[in-house]
Amino acid sequence: MGSRFPLFPEQASNFAADVDHLLYFLLAVTTFFTLLIFCSIFYFAVRYRRRSESEHPPEVHVGMTLEILWSVIPFGLTMIMFTWGASIFFSMHRPPDDAIELYAVGKQWMWKLQHMEGQREINELHIPVGRPVKLIMTSEDVIHSFYVPAFRTKEDVLPGRYTVTWFKPTQPGKYHLFCAEYCGNKHSGMIGWVYVMEPQAYQAWLSGGAAEGSLASSGNKLFQDLACVNCHKADGSGRGPTLVGLFNKTVELSGGGTVKADEAYIRESILNPAAKVVAGYQPIMPTFQGLVTEENVLQLVEYIKSLGPKPGSGAGAAPASQKKAGAATIPPIPGSQPLNP
Ligand code: CUA
Repeated sequence: MGSRFPLFPEQASNFAADVDHLLYFLLAVTTFFTLLIFCSIFYFAVRYRRRSESEHPPEVHVGMTLEILWSVIPFGLTMIMFTWGASIFFSMHRPPDDAIELYAVGKQWMWKLQHMEGQREINELHIPVGRPVKLIMTSEDVIHSFYVPAFRTKEDVLPGRYTVTWFKPTQPGKYHLFCAEYCGNKHSGMIGWVYVMEPQAYQAWLSGGAAEGSLASSGNKLFQDLACVNCHKADGSGRGPTLVGLFNKTVELSGGGTVKADEAYIRESILNPAAKVVAGYQPIMPTFQGLVTEENVLQLVEYIKSLGPKPGSGAGAAPASQKKAGAATIPPIPGSQPLNP
């Protein structure tokens, strides 16, 4: 047994203290009322016990004041819980524009993480301290849940959808990463570590493993290999619409209606092209379901993003000047390359 037995994980992100304070409040309120109710039950049971078989207590009517109080006070308390909880919930779902973007793919039974610069990790995530990090996540099979207790971060990862979570690590260190949704018989083994590094060490780590090229450049290669480029010509003269400047734009659909060209729409258009056809084009694109993995889809999405306007594009590739940072901490990168032909 260690020297201490912590009841709470470390507070290692911007959300940790907020979440803990809300939890302390909830614990205090529920403890207070649990004690109040139980003590009252015992007191009244003894104080007003029936003393004889023939005892019939008189009917009593108490004033309105008491009834109003025991309605208004709990209402006020639950509204405090609601607004407090909702404000934390909303801030957890609004990643700042300057966040570092990363992709996470859950799969029975591992976490695959991709950095924009090209690094891929399995069951490990290296991030810098003090910078907001945004994770765009999906699953290759069943529902998983990305859970880092020290960050007070937990977000479900769903097949066929992108979910987003973010956090800002506040302390360098090594923190547990869990899957928090039962996902099969090795669910308990779907664990890993988040390494929060000093900015210098992080830059060194980044520049140590980018041999595969950035996510966008892998996507570009895939775009050629899969012959997407034959129809989606840059100048718009192809059989499909041009993808230049597409990302985040509003697209007119054939049959009316519009859609915002976000990650989810691009993914859908790759896997189920007939779902939302751009106005003025024929539904002739074949599906790439089964031909590309979720990671390939992310590479293509990132390539398409690189062709168009991108919010907070300052968070992109690491400046070359930081490559000088030396070989401080460069752990080996698990270099799996699950590219389908
Ligand atoms: Cu993945 Cu549990």
